[in-house]
Amino acid sequence: MIQQERMTVVRQREIAKNIFEMTLQGQIVQEMTPGQFVHIRVSNLLDPLLRRPISIANIDKNANEFTIIYRAQGKGTNVLSQKQIGDEVDVLGPLGNGFPVEAAQQGETALLVGGGIGVPPLYELAKQLNARGVRTIHVFGFQTEEVAFYEEEFTKLGETHYVTDDGSKGFKGFVTDLLNELKPDFDVFYSCGPLPMLRALSSMYEDKKGYISLEERMGCGIGACFACVCKTQEGQEKDYVKICSDGPVFEKGVVKI
Ligand code: FES
Repeated sequence: MIQQERMTVVRQREIAKNIFEMTLQGQIVQEMTPGQFVHIRVSNLLDPLLRRPISIANIDKNANEFTIIYRAQGKGTNVLSQKQIGDEVDVLGPLGNGFPVEAAQQGETALLVGGGIGVPPLYELAKQLNARGVRTIHVFGFQTEEVAFYEEEFTKLGETHYVTDDGSKGFKGFVTDLLNELKPDFDVFYSCGPLPMLRALSSMYEDKKGYISLEERMGCGIGACFACVCKTQEGQEKDYVKICSDGPVFEKGVVKI
């Protein structure tokens, strides 16, 4: 159930250049699943543009805490990055449909592919898959080393590879270049990141079960702006979907991307 809550900032730190990790505490954490997102009002001003959809990176139901990882790149997220421990933030969520963890069975292998700020939701997913006895392989692309994050966290969960545009960290090129070399053996893939990457993966692994998060196409995040409307592939139940409410996660091949 979607709820609105004033949540308390319990931690905030810059984990890479202009990339912030913020942990918030409150009751709505109990409803969260990996791949969902929240809509955060970053200021008390009555400006709706000052709400931002941000994906959920980590869920700790015992402590009633969840973590977001976001890039401070505009008015709203810059304000958010200045919040201090103890400050309150207005959070609406959890929103959307997340990754189906149950699509991978115990003993199977899942390939998790992320690009840039699409990597965070894959962290909670990797944790929950590992808890189910699913092996995870992580392949993540970033522009440069200075904006890459969470290597230690992902390495603890499974085989982890980094790819950068300029080769400053890990393999130089695109994630798909590295995947062509690695030829990983897996049962299901999950991915979140730029559309060209999701497109390339969907055709590269046409015969595999796969789920993609289209959060890059999101605008308002709450069904009000229609910026996220996408046409579906032939033969689907609906002709159009809204990324924010029908997604952001879809099985590959459902949405025309
Ligand atoms: Fe605005 Fe979906 S993001 S309607």
